[in-house]
Amino acid sequence: MKLDLSGKTALVTGGARGIGASISRTLAAAGAKVVINFNKSGEKAGKLRDEIRSEGFESEIFQADVSEPDQVDRLFQFIRSYSGRLDILVNNAGMIRDALLLAMSAAEWDKVHDVNLRGAFLTTRIAAELMVLKHYGKIINIASVSGIRGGRGQTNYASAKGGLISFTRACAVELAPKGIQVNAVLPGFIETEMSTRARRRAGEALLDRIPAQRFGNPQEVANLVLFLASEFSDYITGQAIPVDGGLSVS
Ligand code: NAI
Repeated sequence: MKLDLSGKTALVTGGARGIGASISRTLAAAGAKVVINFNKSGEKAGKLRDEIRSEGFESEIFQADVSEPDQVDRLFQFIRSYSGRLDILVNNAGMIRDALLLAMSAAEWDKVHDVNLRGAFLTTRIAAELMVLKHYGKIINIASVSGIRGGRGQTNYASAKGGLISFTRACAVELAPKGIQVNAVLPGFIETEMSTRARRRAGEALLDRIPAQRFGNPQEVANLVLFLASEFSDYITGQAIPVDGGLSVS
């Protein structure tokens, strides 16, 4: 058996930078046509598409805010016309707005839930419609170790990612009979723009909490996503798998 995604179409939300960019590159290199969704990172998305194409693989980009139903509808209209099918959905788009509970505004709460959780609901609902037609699909939600451990200043983010993990399990139960597997990946501290401030603020003390004594890199998350997107994982569904150097068990 070979890990091969030829003939498959994948959508990676927020796929232009950070972990999402590594996932886009990795799925494309395995043979999938990759639609890179972006919200504000248009320039990065274009460069990544060109890079993927220059290596002989297929990719397109499409702008949409995943928390807006009309924009998600347009994204899927594009996928229908581009490929007519969707085999792999990676709900990677995410954001943080950290604040201590007593200082957190309702707007900060809502924004983080809208992107991290509602966005995944909106894309999954339409993706599942397409996948059911082929009785085949892989949905991979990028949650976080924060969704199972909590985190200071992250009541909004931890609850959104915890919700995403529960959403994953409930979707898995509904969609398994239709040939669709739904799993969550839980990154720990990965070296991207999102974690820069937290890594700088906490300094060396943060590394002491990670048994592997280093931060992860985006490719290490993409490697698990590739496995979950492939036929190697056909009997795995409803799971929440950390990629965290042991942080969640320490
Ligand atoms: P990042 O900030 O570099 O990337 C997030 C991506 O989501 C960006 O491309 C951004 O433009 C996109 N995005 C944000 N709002 C969007 C919206 N409304 N519609 C469409 N796209 C939108 O962050 P990173 O680190 O690459 O994060 C990727 C995923 O991994 C996120 O879901 C994040 O919560 C999760 N994660 C990251 C960790 C880390 O240490 N970097 C740890 C745990 C989870």
